[in-house]
This record gives sequence, structure tokens and C-alpha cells, in this order.
Amino acid sequence: MSVRVAVAGASGYAGGELLRLLVGHPQVEIGALTASTSAGSSLGEHQPHLPMLAERVIEPTTTQTLAGHDVVFLALPHGASGEIAAALPQDVLVVDCGADHRLSDPAAWAEFYGGGYAGSWPYGLPELMLGDGSRQRDRLRGARRIAVPGCYPTAVSLALAPGFAAGLLGPDVVVVAASGTSGAGKSLRPNLIGSEVMGSMSPYGVGGVHRHTPEMEQNLALSAGGPVQVSFTPTLAPMSRGILATCTAPLAATAHEADPDVVRAVWQKAYADEPFVSVLPSGRWPRTADTLGANTVHLQVVLDPRTRRVIATVAIDNLTKGTAGGAIQSANLALGLPETLGLPLAGLAP
Ligand SMILES: NC(=O)c1ccc[n+]([C@@H]2O[C@H](COP(=O)([O-])OP(=O)(O)OC[C@H]3O[C@@H](n4cnc5c(N)ncnc54)[C@H](OP(=O)(O)O)[C@@H]3O)[C@@H](O)[C@H]2O)c1
Repeated sequence: MSVRVAVAGASGYAGGELLRLLVGHPQVEIGALTASTSAGSSLGEHQPHLPMLAERVIEPTTTQTLAGHDVVFLALPHGASGEIAAALPQDVLVVDCGADHRLSDPAAWAEFYGGGYAGSWPYGLPELMLGDGSRQRDRLRGARRIAVPGCYPTAVSLALAPGFAAGLLGPDVVVVAASGTSGAGKSLRPNLIGSEVMGSMSPYGVGGVHRHTPEMEQNLALSAGGPVQVSFTPTLAPMSRGILATCTAPLAATAHEADPDVVRAVWQKAYADEPFVSVLPSGRWPRTADTLGANTVHLQVVLDPRTRRVIATVAIDNLTKGTAGGAIQSANLALGLPETLGLPLAGLAP
């Protein structure tokens, strides 16, 4: 049995990565490919790495072009998906890679995004540990609406959730993360052109204003069973893909005497059965290259014995596990397919 899938935003980075993975998915038939300004042109003009779809013509993104599919992936700018999703039938699986349906707090949406609040959908991070001992995947089976996490929240939430779920960490998180330029999408901006980015790194969204901050706090609060604050500083790195995040939190007052082996064991146990998450052997550190093109999360955790802070470093590919791979993983769960179907485990290093 094949499921018929449409991709809206097919000319963009997230749409291109969805299609790269979907052409290798054994139970998918690719239907409509839609976008905005590129409607009428061939997909090959925008995604030349997908020769098997090169002759397909991009259609406008309307409820008519998206009708008649079992699954609709939306890879549109935030704000563009709410109206389209609302017009699609309830029995169609709609998987939104944008931010419109991620936040459960309308006030957080108003503060960080603004505009109309479209409500929240089941959150597509299957491995996320929740305070009651369950995982987020239990909420995705059979879902017909899924909000795909942001790329930074995927990395940061998976890096720290085990410590919060185990009651090991205090709620004062500091994250500094580097992202490749594809995290900002394909549209032209002067700060993203090659001569600005090559050979240079720079922070942006400094001072608690990055839009992914409330999403990280929302996820970690679910793991902790109480509020968590995140101070988040993103940086732009001279690479096309990849996120490397360094996430720290103090040991909770009740766990202040925990030793490095106890800390490590918590993360190892949390991810022992997770096919996409690897806690690296002691002394090895995550590298973005090892996760490129793969739906994987590489992480390492240590205790800084002097500051009594736990440091979790994590690498993902922002377009694979951080967007399209995560989206397909959640869609597999919603459709009752094996969670790992069609998703690569091997990276691209060097
Ligand atoms: N890039 C990442 O690493 C990443 C990670 C996680 C989540 N996401 C999310 O995924 C979504 C897409 O991101 P992206 O990086 O792929 O952006 P992108 O490269 O700029 O692509 C945007 C796509 O949306 C289409 N589009 C723009 N405005 C539209 C409208 N009003 N109606 C219909 N289609 C419209 C564009 O079509 P035309 O080219 O025809 O104009 C293009 O296909 C965003 O919500 C983003 O936050 C991205």
C-alpha cells in the first residue's frame, strides 16, 4: 500500500529535503509539488539534485492542488500554513514544518511571532521524554495534524530532556549553538551571501529574542514537569547544513552530589533504544559532518565538577533530523508505519 503525498514549498530547502527523502521511501507516491513565486516552473530548476523529479511542474499552493492526497507536508514560511491547513479535510495527515502550530501558549506566540494564533498540534519529536515517563511518540500514533519542531529545539530538547525527566537538572539552561546557513531558508539576504559567511562566524538573535526560545522552554518544561528557563544564543557558521549546540544546566539541588558516571548513565539509559539518537562513547564529541543527510542525533554529556553544571553537546543536520527527516519519522508513526521507514542512519563525513 502506498500513501499519496503532496509537498507544499517544494522549491525551498525544507521542501527539497523532504523530496530527497520521500523519493527513497518505499511506501510513498509523490503527488502534487506546490510553491509560490516558482509555480509554473519545473522542479529541476530549483532542486537539481533530484533528477527523478526534474520534469515535474510546480503548482500554486491552494487547497485545490493539495486535495486528494493522504499526506500533505507544508514547508512554507510561518504564517502561510494556518489557513491552508484549516481548509484541508480532517482525515488528511497534515505535517507542518513551519512554526504555526508548535506553541501551546498563545501569549508566547504573540510575543515571539505575532499575528493570528493558529492553535497547537501534536508535536513531532517522538523521542522527547515527558515528565510522566512516556515519550512524545505516544501522542503521534494515529495523529492527523503534526507540528514539526524547529531545528534548534530538536537539538536542544533532545540534548537536555533526559536530565530534566530524571530530576537531575535545575531549570536554568544556557545554550550556545551554531547553525549552517540553510537554517534561514533559500531567500536572498545580504548577511547570508557567501562573502559575508565564508571564513566568519557571527551571533544573531542575541538577548532572549530568538523565536525558538519559547519552544525549547515548552519542551523542557514537559520533561521537567515544571517551568524551565532557556538563555539561547544562536550563531551562524560558514557551512551549508548542520547544528552544533552546547547546552548547559546546573545540577538540581536534590542531585548536587551526582557524579559523572551517574549523569552519563541517565543519558545512556534514556536513549538506549532510540534508533536515531546516539550517546557517543566517553571522550568522543559530536561533529556536524557525521550527521549530514542522516536522521540522526549525536550527543555527548559530561559533568563539569567545578561549576556543578551538566554540559550536553549535540549535533544534527538541521534539514534532516531538524526538519524533513523528523517530519517523515512522525508521519510514519501517524500512519502506523515503522517509525524508521525510509530514513537514513548514515551521515556524510568528511
Ligand atoms: N531551513 C531549515 O533548516 C528549517 C528547519 C526547520 C523548519 N523549517 C521551516 O520550514 C519552512 C520552510 O523553510 P525553508 O528553509 O525551506 O524556506 P525556503 O527555502 O525559503 O522555502 C520556502 C518555500 O515556501 C514557498 N512559499 C513562500 N511563501 C509562500 C506562500 N505565501 N504560499 C505558498 N508557498 C510559499 C516558497 O515558494 P517559492 O520559492 O515559489 O516562492 C518556497 O518553496 C519554514 O517555516 C521554516 O521555519 C526550516
